Amino acid sequence: MTHPRTHRLWQDVTVFDGQQTLPDSMAVIVEDDRIHSLIPMRELSASLADTCLPMGSGGVMTPGLVDCHTHLVFGGGRADEFESRLEGVSYEEIARRGGGIISTVRDTREASEDALFAAALPRLDALLADGVTTVEIKSGYGLDVENELKMLRVARRLGEARPVRVVTTLLGAHALPPEYAGDSDGYIDLVCDKMIPAAAAEGLADAVDVFCEKIAFSVAQCERVFEAARGHGLPIKAHAEQLSNLGGSAMAARHGALSADHIEYLDDAGIASMRDAGSVAVILPGAFHTLRETQQPPIAGLREAGVPMAVATDANPGSSPLFMPTLMLNMACTLFRLTPREALTGMTAHGARALGMPELGRLREGAPADLCLWNIDTPAELAYAVQPGRLRQRVVAGQPVED
Ligand code: NIG
Ligand code: FE
Repeated sequence: MTHPRTHRLWQDVTVFDGQQTLPDSMAVIVEDDRIHSLIPMRELSASLADTCLPMGSGGVMTPGLVDCHTHLVFGGGRADEFESRLEGVSYEEIARRGGGIISTVRDTREASEDALFAAALPRLDALLADGVTTVEIKSGYGLDVENELKMLRVARRLGEARPVRVVTTLLGAHALPPEYAGDSDGYIDLVCDKMIPAAAAEGLADAVDVFCEKIAFSVAQCERVFEAARGHGLPIKAHAEQLSNLGGSAMAARHGALSADHIEYLDDAGIASMRDAGSVAVILPGAFHTLRETQQPPIAGLREAGVPMAVATDANPGSSPLFMPTLMLNMACTLFRLTPREALTGMTAHGARALGMPELGRLREGAPADLCLWNIDTPAELAYAVQPGRLRQRVVAGQPVED
């Protein structure tokens, strides 16, 4: 009697396991939604292969990409701001004039949930076509209870509409909305007393984020947000040290933050705090590039301290209108001198860790079977060339999907 063939088998693949490239050509067997086994090809018996569904052979297999920092849901666009910046007006100056994030807030508040969903779907599809199987999506363009929850609902709907794991983050403390001008502490009260409890009550937020910066919120204000998040059992993270060094990353680390993101201006004390707390440094080369930033994140110091570095798109309408994760791998190498291996680990194992989901982003026995099969010869090619169309197959929770 023959058994039903329930295991899926990929043969002769070069495996990048989330940390390194395995030396042998491998067979990968998936059972249901998990990786069942990884076997060097020379050890794969014909009898075992015969019990499996053949899924193809050749190519490079990686964990599905984890884009751990995006702002995919937003209304309108900011091409006009792009032109102003090219003429020499700074990101900070645009923000002070009521443009920047606040202009997206106006457009996002005006948009219906359906309209936001329809606008975000093609952006999500661009990420999936480039290998993403887990994506974090932040709010932060609503800046009142109703509109922040609206954004988070859209993010959840995106995860239902497509085969991808969506992780949501409440970023109420992203910018000061105009109705609170001159009363930023009052706005932080709203975030802590109303927004976080409402998002938690509806199960809409998996984490809480802040923008700790002169044009946004102070270290003390962000700390209040973190305390409120803790009260609701939500993990925290921070946009910090992007435009100046305020010490936001170190404060976030002291509160056990999953990550500090951007961190171009992070100093040695900040690195030490992140190391001690086990926080991930999320490197966002798209924002560095778009804002024509010149201050490099302290890659060598992070590397030396053993702080895990994640790489993400920061996809958003202002500082990173870039919806191609593998381009970020390339930029992390060319702009910041990560090695291709570090960059790819940054968008797999370390990206997952920045989301508090360390079981993802790894290709090993027992791990969730989120996989990508690429038409390339070596994993480094993902960072080396900027070339859409190399993804042969995406597998989410064991299910092959056609994008
Ligand atoms: O990650 N730094 C602040 N927030 C976003 C930018 C959002 C925007 O410009 O719309 C970022 O860069
Ligand atoms: Fe961001």
